[in-house]
Amino acid sequence: MNSNYSNYKLDLFVGREKELKFLGELFDLAWDNKGSFVLIEGETGIGKTRLTEEFLKSIRSQEVTVIRGHGYHKEISPYRLFSEMFRNYFSSINYDTRYLALLLDNLTIVNLEKIVPELREYIPFDTSRIATSPLPPKEEKQRFYDTLLLFFLKLSHRSPLVVNIEDLHWLEPDTFELLRYLVHNFRKAPILVIATARGLEHDSFADNWISGLEDQRLVRRIKLSTLIPEEVKSLVEAFFNQELSESFLKWLLGYTAGNPLFIHETLRAGIEQNAFFFDPVESRWEIKREYVENILEPATIQSVIQRRLQGLDKESRKVLGLAAVVGDKFDLQTLQKISKISSTRLRRTKEDLIIRNLLQKQSEKDAEEEIYRFTHHIIRLHLYQELDPEFKLNMHHRIALILEKECGKNKEKLFQRVEDLAHHYSRGKKDGISLKKTVSFLTQAGLKAQKQYSESKAEQYYDQAIGFLESCPSSKDKDRKLFQVLENLGEVETALGKQDMAIRSYQKALKIGRTHNLLPRFKEAQIHRKIGYAYPIWNMRNLLPPVIVWA
Ligand SMILES: Nc1ncnc2c1ncn2[C@@H]1O[C@H](COP(=O)(O)OP(=O)(O)OP(=O)(O)O)[C@@H](O)[C@H]1O
Ligand SMILES: [Mg+2]
Repeated sequence: MNSNYSNYKLDLFVGREKELKFLGELFDLAWDNKGSFVLIEGETGIGKTRLTEEFLKSIRSQEVTVIRGHGYHKEISPYRLFSEMFRNYFSSINYDTRYLALLLDNLTIVNLEKIVPELREYIPFDTSRIATSPLPPKEEKQRFYDTLLLFFLKLSHRSPLVVNIEDLHWLEPDTFELLRYLVHNFRKAPILVIATARGLEHDSFADNWISGLEDQRLVRRIKLSTLIPEEVKSLVEAFFNQELSESFLKWLLGYTAGNPLFIHETLRAGIEQNAFFFDPVESRWEIKREYVENILEPATIQSVIQRRLQGLDKESRKVLGLAAVVGDKFDLQTLQKISKISSTRLRRTKEDLIIRNLLQKQSEKDAEEEIYRFTHHIIRLHLYQELDPEFKLNMHHRIALILEKECGKNKEKLFQRVEDLAHHYSRGKKDGISLKKTVSFLTQAGLKAQKQYSESKAEQYYDQAIGFLESCPSSKDKDRKLFQVLENLGEVETALGKQDMAIRSYQKALKIGRTHNLLPRFKEAQIHRKIGYAYPIWNMRNLLPPVIVWA
């Protein structure tokens, strides 16, 4: 495989048809002198900037002026957004002196240079004698506001103006105030303002500002959600220029939750680490099995997550860490039992984590059960990797005990939660009893998967069970179990078309059975029959003549 990421192309734009159409409609309204302010919202990497760019691309052929500026983290200087916009604008236009003279009258020059001190350098005519007499501060401010408004209106005089504000959540209060004034006055102008913002923190300045505009019906909101599986599939297949296996797609969806940035970064890390391969038989791209659980976190994702976790207090960190041990999904009760935090405090912490977009409620239909999950599987993996290994062993063990107690002797419940029990017992600390339970639940989970025709899952459970059994001291009981698991494994390997491995598993089972005289004659015959069933298919595959093509 070529491990140079730049050899792969990831420029296809997928989905977002509804959003593009909506932006198009607002733009059409602008041609009719009906201005709008639209806010594109969503978590990091969801595609706010890309959507804006794709929209701007779609209107490129029309005569339109675009003016752009950003909000910056920890912004303190007032109106810097506008300074950036005007600098961008003046450095990109061709100097048509007559047009500039219309655009920049005396008042405009004096007011704009309050935020773009070098303004006169952009102006090709003599400005040396331009000055205005000062007004009292309040009026001075109003004149500044009005001049800026007028300047924007002049920019939209010949054709509609699109004002793009990136990362609005970082703007500082004075900028917000001026922006409110402008948005209010753009309603009857051919001006479309497109702003992007990450999830606005509840009750933050930006959040309240938006609510204020919403009350006045001055804002249209586009909330971007993650890409749907078909979109991810097209995106990644365009990247590889070939098809993708079902399991690879499923893994990628689970790992990235359909966030385009995470998809880009995961593909980059995967290519660099050689985690993917092209299966020539199936003619599809696959992920190597050893990477399914252990792909290294791409650095960008790591920093995105760290940024998200910054500023959490100790208790929230603890709750998140414990939740990460429980799994992608968890219920509050279990969390309370292992955390020993009072339920009121736990609820408060949970609410805060939801607002911070780290957790979310599983789904409305689960509302009664209060099941929550991480907004991203990657966040859980990150937290999990950071935890102390000894702590994780203890916690998994504790969770397994709690789950088992909850199920009691209720077979249905046990059947439902058998995978969770297998998961926590196999990762928890081991003594004689828990080792036995680990093997027992892994075997049961394997049987359940087999019943549900999920052979590759069953294979994983049985492989794990064998691993644990092999670490047990020798005993007749151990061999009896090993025999059973090997026989089951043989079955799933046959079903998966891995006949050579199936025969090996059956033969191992027979050997163990014979050593301890575990096998009644009928059982031995049964296993031989199974070998016989697997053997010819496997053998024939190797003996098949090449395909003859008749002319
Ligand atoms: N619909 C899409 N199809 C294909 N790629 C996409 C899509 N949306 C976003 N991307 C890609 O995902 C990456 C992240 O997108 P983008 O920068 O637009 O996210 P963002 O929401 O603006 O994030 P941030 O909040 O960090 O600014 C980019 O490389 C972008 O090209
Ligand atoms: Mg962005």
